Amino acid sequence: MELRDVSRTYAVDGRRIEAVRNVTASFAAGSFTAVVGRSGCGKSTLLNLAGAMDRPTRGEVRLLGKPTTALCDPALTQLRRRRVGFVFQFFNLLPTLTVFENVELPLLLDGQRDRAWQVREMLVQVDVWGRAGDYPHQLSGGEMQRVAIARALVQQPAILIADEPTGNLDSANAQTILKLLARAAGAMGAAVIMATHSREAAAFADRVLGMRDGEIVEGSNGPTV
Ligand SMILES: Nc1ncnc2c1ncn2[C@@H]1O[C@H](COP(=O)(O)OP(=O)(O)OP(=O)(O)O)[C@@H](O)[C@H]1O
Ligand SMILES: [Mg+2]
Repeated sequence: MELRDVSRTYAVDGRRIEAVRNVTASFAAGSFTAVVGRSGCGKSTLLNLAGAMDRPTRGEVRLLGKPTTALCDPALTQLRRRRVGFVFQFFNLLPTLTVFENVELPLLLDGQRDRAWQVREMLVQVDVWGRAGDYPHQLSGGEMQRVAIARALVQQPAILIADEPTGNLDSANAQTILKLLARAAGAMGAAVIMATHSREAAAFADRVLGMRDGEIVEGSNGPTV
């Protein structure tokens, strides 16, 4: 995953906000990168660009060698559905689906058969297989986030985007989640990109990028070796 001189501008009430400014960075398979910086510095905007949720105003985003700007919306959606996993601060599980069904959903949307064993495997990996038939509201925050990670990883994505994944968890649950993210990079070979306010959380990553006013001001922002 590569960003080349990427900017993302929002127009708000006739003003232009440059949420991300001239960022060049690459995220290799198997790497775990933390993006840190104050509220409003552009972390989520950067992650949305990296996860092909959004298109840059300027510059180029390449996902698995393909420039996302060159893809039409349906192609971009398909690429994202198959190759990118997302984890959020508020878990974003679907409340009317069971734990099992939440994790099954990405496979279902992708038209895959033989889903059950993949779902089971993921739920076992994050240690919530025992809750497969329960609904999200019956789970603790830590358990919900583990389910969200299972859902994000069930397609074996090339890229895992985690926006403040530990923002709502106590430190024991946060550690469990951070270890799962590190394992997604180490064992599954995903490029994991995590935004966080917490330096402790960032310490789990193998690289830290500091942002200020839309720019990367700390850490390597060139190609990773
Ligand atoms: N959809 C949008 N429309 C207009 N402005 C936006 C939009 N999304 C973000 N911004 C602005 O872009 C800037 C960067 O926002 P962003 O959400 O990326 O920051 P952040 O670092 O993730 O902050 P936080 O730590 O609070 O989550 C902010 O000034 C924000 O107000
Ligand atoms: Mg944010």
